[in-house]
This record gives sequence, structure tokens and C-alpha cells, in this order.
Amino acid sequence: MPGRYFLTTPIYYVNDVPHIGHAYTTVTADALARWHRLLGDDVFFLTGTDEHGLKIARAAEANGITPQEQADRTSARFQETWDLLDIEPDRFIRTTDPDHTVAVQAFLQKIHDNGHLYKSQYAGWYCVPCEAYYEDDDLLPNPDGGNGLDPVHLRPVEWFEEENWFFKLSEFTQPLLDWYEAQPDAVAPGGKRNEALGIIKHGLKDISITRTSLDWGVPVPWDPGHVFYVWYDALINYATAIGYGTDPERFAAWWPHVHHLLAKDIIRFHTVYWPAMLMAAGEEPPAHLNVHGYLLVGGEKMSKTSLNQIFPADLVADFGVDGFRYHFLRNAPFGPDGDVSYEGIVAGYNADLANNFGNLLSRVATVVAKKCDGVGPAPRPDSPLAAVAADAYREAAAAWDAVQPSVALEATWRLIREANAMLEEAEPWKAEPGPEVDGVLGDAIEVLRLVCILASPALTRAAGEAWRRIGLTGSPADQRLPEAASWGGYPGGLPVEKGDPLFPRFKPPA
Ligand code: MSP
Repeated sequence: MPGRYFLTTPIYYVNDVPHIGHAYTTVTADALARWHRLLGDDVFFLTGTDEHGLKIARAAEANGITPQEQADRTSARFQETWDLLDIEPDRFIRTTDPDHTVAVQAFLQKIHDNGHLYKSQYAGWYCVPCEAYYEDDDLLPNPDGGNGLDPVHLRPVEWFEEENWFFKLSEFTQPLLDWYEAQPDAVAPGGKRNEALGIIKHGLKDISITRTSLDWGVPVPWDPGHVFYVWYDALINYATAIGYGTDPERFAAWWPHVHHLLAKDIIRFHTVYWPAMLMAAGEEPPAHLNVHGYLLVGGEKMSKTSLNQIFPADLVADFGVDGFRYHFLRNAPFGPDGDVSYEGIVAGYNADLANNFGNLLSRVATVVAKKCDGVGPAPRPDSPLAAVAADAYREAAAAWDAVQPSVALEATWRLIREANAMLEEAEPWKAEPGPEVDGVLGDAIEVLRLVCILASPALTRAAGEAWRRIGLTGSPADQRLPEAASWGGYPGGLPVEKGDPLFPRFKPPA
């Protein structure tokens, strides 16, 4: 049954340009959005940039520009990168957008009116790269003897002291535990749910949510001179985009059935602060939080500080947009950490795209040209591949539903391998033209039709091209599942085109 599907990525900081870690979450979200469009769902896919706060103000200062210029420049780089990767959000939100200011002020005013805020003196450790507060026992020892190091960036924290508004997070310990108890599937994978529960059970302290030492933020409506703490601005983007503060009916229609995607670095903000903020504002916590691990390079988290960043455009230059998207969707399972290696990308590209998918198409087109005058025969209703295709669809659908693109694509590629195996066994290229050859080729073309649809969330280009070459009109992305996944959709009698290899074999430069 088609429904509504609201899907978000974190909004990315604009201190630096996007790398493949940002692309990983965003490509995954884009592919999920495409899958749900195939199902006929009313999809709203949101991504964007997080532009306020000290981290951005300092980056701007270092670059000799204003924070607004820093935000404009870098936000544009994110948008260009998403264009390059065929990532098509329904909205690209910027926290400097006017409707976001309205939403943040309305949301936090509500929390204030509900009595969950108080003013007090803040004194404590702060990590600017994390934009996060730390307790003494969170910090790692500093080998140079200075302030302790934050556990994420391994940078010395700074001492902050000022008058701030505080959110009574401590009052939400029990409501959060009750909510997690009632919603056992809210956080996936399960291990990350335990991590969230661990943070809550460890004890929640009230948290400072405003600043006076900084003006690059959303002003606090009831206390001039204060701006909101960047996370209490950023998280609200998920509400802004569906009309919080501007279109209450729209908000009510979409919330709380959201699917947030994020990596484990920001689990505390999404699984503790955000649900508590929502409760304090009288709203339901988010229904689904899908947490993934880190892309590692040489065993380390890819990051600016580790000097091991890889940029999407460099990989697209070698493997194309489809090669890029396929690699991260298929070979970086959503959940655990995973190492990225150039050799791994080459191997996967050559095996799955050049050999399996590319070969199936080129073999079929060549033999159809030779044995069937270039006209694709219809599949056999009783083909042995029909059951394989039904299984592949069932598994792929369940896997996309569970936010496991790698499993969905594995199921899809199993179908490709079975079709190649059938061709190798039947060897239609050696046989005389006739019903036997027609049947085998018709089945193989039907597999290609199905694969074009099932792989279209990953292969935004090749799926459409293969679709066209087997003579179909329109695009695989316009098909509707589950109907379009039924065996026998290829009508036969259509021209099949031979063309250049869909995925030329990649030979790494010597
Ligand atoms: N601005 C905050 C998020 C606010 S959301 C309300 C932020 N920004 S960020 O630019 O640091 O992006 C963090 C996110 O980028 C991660 O949660 C993840 O989605 C993605 N990744 C960044 N580096 C990554 C890896 N090395 N590996 C996997 N994902 C990575 O935090």
C-alpha cells in the first residue's frame, strides 16, 4: 500500500566541502527515496546544510570572509556535489533559510512556554569541531599536557563560561526510557538502540542551549543578545521542512513518521536530545532512526583531521556516477564501519557492473541480432527464472524496507547471475534459430527488464540506458511496484540495440 515516506540525512556543516562520508549517507537516502517512489509512495527526501555556530564562524574568519559568505560558498559545493551524483532531494534546506528561523523560534518558544527552560551560568568544556559539551570523564588525556581531548576529533577542548538558557534534559530521562520501551524498533540497528539507552541510563544533565558570546545563529525571541546553540537550531530543520511554524496541517500530516539516516558520530543528538526536545515541545519523537557506521580509510575514520579524505568527483571521474553509487550502496553495508579501498571499488565495478550486468546485456543484444533479426522475443511464462525473479524481488523489497541497500542489490545481482548461468548452459549463440532460442533469450531480456527496475535506485543512468536498448519506452523509474515486478512484463517484438559496453572494464592506470 503506497504511503508517505519522509526521509532525511543529517544537514552537513559548511566549514568544509563534502567528502565521500557525506556522500555515503546522502546517496543511500537518495536510493531509498527512489525505491519508495517506485512503490508509489508520496516521498519527501530532505537534505541540506548546517550553517550557524562557532565552527562555521571560525572557518569564515580563517578564510577572511563573513559567515554568510562561508555558508553560501560551501552550501553551493554540497548542492553541486549532489547534482553530480544524481542526488535529487525534494528540498535542500539551509539553516539560514527564513522559514527555518521561524520554525526554530516557534519550536523553542513552545519549549520555553511549556516551562522546560531556565537561565543559569554555564561553565564547562566545549569542543568546537563537535559543537558539543563534554564532562571531565568524557575526555581523553592530552599527551601534550594541555586541556583534555574530545573523543571524536581528538582535539583539545576549550573552557566556556557564560550566562545561558538551559534545557531541563534531566527531566526527560524517564519519559525517554518509557518511549524506547514502547518503541523497540525506533533505532536500527539494535546495537545502536542499546547505545542510546546507555547514554540515557548513564544520567542526563541539563544542557545549555543558547549563547551570548556569538551572534552567528538564530536569535532567542524572548531574550535579545542570545542566539540558540547550533544543535538546537540544526535538529529542528527536520520539522521546518514539513511546515513546523509555517504550515501546521502539513506538519501534522508528515510527523512523526520520519526516517532519519545518520552516522554513529551524532547518535546522542538524534536519539536523546532530539526526542526530548520534541517531547518538551509537545510533539512525538521521530519514528525511525537508522544509524550507520564510519567509512574508514586505512582503518581510520575519514576526516579532515586525519588528512585521509576522498572526494566524490575523483571517484566519479574513474567509475562514473553509477559506479560510485553502486559501490557505496552495494559494498558498504549500512550499519557497521567499512574500509574504503580503491582496489575494492575496481574489483566490485569489474565483477558486478562490467561482467555481470554489462555482459548480460551485451550477450543478449548480440545473440538477438544474430538469431532473431534484432527483435527481442517474449519470455516464457513457465520459465525457470520466474521463481528466481520472484524471490529476488521479495528479498530486495524487504531489504530496502529495512534500509539494507547492500542486501537488496545482492538479491538483484543473484538474478543477473542466474540469467547468465542459464545462457551459458543453453548456449543460444551455438543453436539454430527457433522456439528454444527465442525462449531463452526472451527470459534473459525479461530479467534485464526486471533488473533495470530493481537497480534503478542505484544505477540512475545505466538502468535507463539498458531499458532503452531492450526496446522499452519511458524509464524504469516510472514503473510501479509490485505490479512491474511480475514475471512476463516484457511484451516481445521490440527492437534490441547493440551498443558500446554499458560499463567498460576498468583497468587501473599502471
Ligand atoms: N551538522 C551536523 C549534523 C546536524 S543534523 C541535524 C553534523 N554535520 S557533519 O558535516 O559533521 O556530518 C556528519 C554526518 O556526515 C555523519 O553523521 C554521516 O552521515 C556523514 N559522515 C561524515 N563522515 C563520515 C564517515 N567517515 N563515514 C560515514 N559517514 C560520515 O554532524
